[in-house]
Parts: sequence; C-alpha cells; structure tokens
Amino acid sequence: MLFMKHIHILGISGSLRADSTNTIILKTLGSTLPSDITFEIFEGLDEIVHFSPGLPDTEPVTRFKAAIAKADAVVFCTPEYAFGVPGTLKNALDWTVGTGDLNDKPVSAISASPLNSGGNNALASLLLTLTALGMKKNDASALSIPNVKGKITEGRVIDAHTLNELRIQCANLLSLIGS
Ligand SMILES: Cc1cc2nc3c(=O)[nH]c(=O)nc-3n(C[C@H](O)[C@H](O)[C@H](O)COP(=O)(O)O)c2cc1C
Repeated sequence: MLFMKHIHILGISGSLRADSTNTIILKTLGSTLPSDITFEIFEGLDEIVHFSPGLPDTEPVTRFKAAIAKADAVVFCTPEYAFGVPGTLKNALDWTVGTGDLNDKPVSAISASPLNSGGNNALASLLLTLTALGMKKNDASALSIPNVKGKITEGRVIDAHTLNELRIQCANLLSLIGS
C-alpha cells in the first residue's frame, strides 16, 4: 500500500504590523493550497532576541526552530525597509546559520511593496541569505509584488494576476518538495 506523506508549509512574514500587506499575501497563498496541505504562519518573530554567536537558544528561538523542523517547506513574504530585509527577519534567520535548520528546505521568497519596485532590493538580499542557508530553490522560487495596496481589499488579495502568481509559487514549491 502507498502512503502519501502529509505536507505542512510554514509561512514567515517579515512584517510585524497587524494589518501587514505581506501577512495578507501569506494568508491568501495559504488559502490557495490544496485542502490536504496544512499551512501556518509563524507568530513571534519579534520575541527572538538579538543574535550573537554562543548565546543559548531561548524559548522563542526554540519555537522558531521547531516550526521550521515541522515544515516540509517555507514561504517568506517580506516588505523592504531602507532597500533591505527588515532587521527582525534577518535576525531570526541568523539564528539558523550555525544549526542549519533551513538547510535543503524548499522555499518560496516573496516581497511586496506599495512602490513600483515591488521590494526588489529586499528580495535580492533575502535570496542571497537563503542561498547562504542552503535552502532548496530554483529560478521560479521568487516573486516580487509591486503596488500591493491596490491589489488587496478587506484583508484579501483580489488582483487576478497576483493570485495566479501565488498559485505558481505554490506549484513550484510543491514540485521542490517532491524532487
Ligand atoms: C522604515 C521604513 C522603511 C521603508 N523602506 C522602504 C523601501 O526601501 N522600499 C520600499 O519599497 N518600501 C519601503 N517602505 C514602505 C513599506 O514597503 C510599506 O510600509 C509596506 O506596506 C510595509 O509592508 P507591510 O504592509 O507588510 O507592513 C518602508 C517603510 C518603513 C516604515
């Protein structure tokens, strides 16, 4: 008999804002996944202490690493702050360098911005970090979403083109999980 492994995907938002457009994108992406795939968004990035080599893992760090370990794949969706990745997200990623928690984990990296640029600088920087962490990705693993505010209504992405791009990210991620 053939047993199919249950797939679980972790979403990580680079924004801490309650009505974050990036978190809305993650929620929308989660809702486009097949119903037999579970999706959770990590809460508590802001509780992770500033990284320094040699510091022990505190509870929020342990919780972050456990959420990663439980996941078959990770989706990041982040704003750009001053042409870079928000410090909160970069700090959390730095905790995984020494322990290799994200090594070989399939990933989709998304940036969204109210500007035309779509957060491209942050996305490029995030992709470099994900490469350093050894995450599993291909040329289709990244998406930048420009002019994001006009694509969201009442907490949902309503723009058909963006919805299609999110579905493509999901399909690519699932193919990376299976490969
Ligand atoms: C401190 C700060 C710096 C920002 N720098 C950039 C930037 O360099 N590029 C950009 O596209 N947007 C920038 N923005 C605008 C954010 O993209 C915008 O606030 C976005 O809505 C944040 O994402 P969120 O809705 O998920 O919180 C900046 C916003 C703040 C507060």
